[in-house]
Amino acid sequence: MPHKNTGTPGSHSRESRASRIVVLISGSGSNLQALMEAAAGQRLGGGEIVAVISNRPDAGGLKRAAGVGIPGHSLNHRDYPDRPGFDRALSTLIDGYRPDLVVLAGFMRILTDDFVNHYQGRLINIHPSLLPAYPGLHTHRRALEAGDREHGATVHFVTAQLDGGPAIVQGRVPVLRDDTPERLAARVLTQEHRIYPAAVRWFCQGRLQLGDNGVLLDGAPLAHPVDAGDDNGPLP
Ligand code: GAR
Repeated sequence: MPHKNTGTPGSHSRESRASRIVVLISGSGSNLQALMEAAAGQRLGGGEIVAVISNRPDAGGLKRAAGVGIPGHSLNHRDYPDRPGFDRALSTLIDGYRPDLVVLAGFMRILTDDFVNHYQGRLINIHPSLLPAYPGLHTHRRALEAGDREHGATVHFVTAQLDGGPAIVQGRVPVLRDDTPERLAARVLTQEHRIYPAAVRWFCQGRLQLGDNGVLLDGAPLAHPVDAGDDNGPLP
């Protein structure tokens, strides 16, 4: 892989070129913002966001990208007769940017197996729950209804199983007595903004791979996702 680090873990080889990242969004793009800020602050392992694509023309994240000069595209899924047709157009657009990594950041579309298989090992997602708990929608409400004392977010490699691919890192938050889904979501988002740039950095540094039997970090299989805890401390 051209972006792979040839130096010590944590460093980014000067010989290797920057990893090219395409980010897919559907909404406000606060995770995109965290990634753009990490890239600008040289905290993305040399990763460069080369394009942002939204399936919703009105996604706020497109404005965030335009604000810093990153090419943005709106590819409206309603313009396509079916899911495979949209996914083919999407992958053609993505592949034009020759990405090393495709990052789903609040991209609210179920993807076809063909799409997922095409990007196997270079497609990651963030999901607002401590997977395997609560795949799918309304995760915050479901955690509250279940009386959970802890909730959070997971970054994972994407496989054909919805929200079921091998987990990389999780950030946690306590569930408070007077929480609403909105308050809980806001607290989870702060952890999302912490763990997603870290996972992308690991990938761009060549430290993170999808192996045959799951996630490899620094060459070692991850028995469990990295536990980022519930504080604001730095990640390795
Ligand atoms: C985030 O909470 C993300 O985890 C979630 O959408 C939100 C997007 O927020 N993704 C999913 O639910 C995917 N299943 P953002 O647009 O502000 O980054």
